[in-house]
Amino acid sequence: MEVMIRAVCLEDLDRITEIEAICFPAAEAATRESFQERIAAFPESFLVAEIDGIIIGFINGCSTNSSVIYDELFHSTEGHIVDGKNLAVFGLDVIPEYRKQGVASKLMKQFIQVARNNGKENVILTCKERLVHYYESFGFENNGISNSTHGGSKWFDMTLVL
Ligand SMILES: CC(C)(COP(=O)(O)OP(=O)(O)OC[C@H]1O[C@@H](n2cnc3c(N)ncnc32)[C@H](O)[C@@H]1OP(=O)(O)O)[C@@H](O)C(=O)NCCC(=O)NCCS
Repeated sequence: MEVMIRAVCLEDLDRITEIEAICFPAAEAATRESFQERIAAFPESFLVAEIDGIIIGFINGCSTNSSVIYDELFHSTEGHIVDGKNLAVFGLDVIPEYRKQGVASKLMKQFIQVARNNGKENVILTCKERLVHYYESFGFENNGISNSTHGGSKWFDMTLVL
């Protein structure tokens, strides 16, 4: 299985929206409109994973000077500061059929490389408790419970110092 990681393009919009709806409950899933705005605003930090030309996962996020993710950041690309010191992860998705084979890991490592290449100081994200150990495996530190109530869930703030 050869997984290719590449930058997103507008033609990916329908497939990305479809995958997001598979991976997240409706209250947490980003909409097609939101993805369209994100692709236009920060294509450099929006990566897709594909096998034989079919997208099976993706990662996306914006630049910010905030040290933590706050809910408004998810809802509008106005929070994207091109020269922001941190790169935030909004979402990491892999379709169920291809999980536990390192696809998300490949996406995350490439995303971290994008952050390094752009001189960012930190990669930040929020995650559910069950994934804290997974992000720690990339070197993220757990900063405790987040103020985010995105989708009505409890989230943890995680930071990777570059
Ligand atoms: C979370 C998610 C992105 C992980 O995707 P994935 O491609 O399965 O991730 P990986 O393969 O890199 O790692 C997943 C697990 O498989 C293990 N793994 C990786 N390659 C493996 C392999 N070849 N054989 C066996 N296990 C493997 C990893 O060690 C990891 O183990 P852990 O759960 O004990 O930490 C995916 O489950 C998903 O989309 N979930 C729904 C959306 C979501 O919750 N996203 C995160 C939001 S914060």
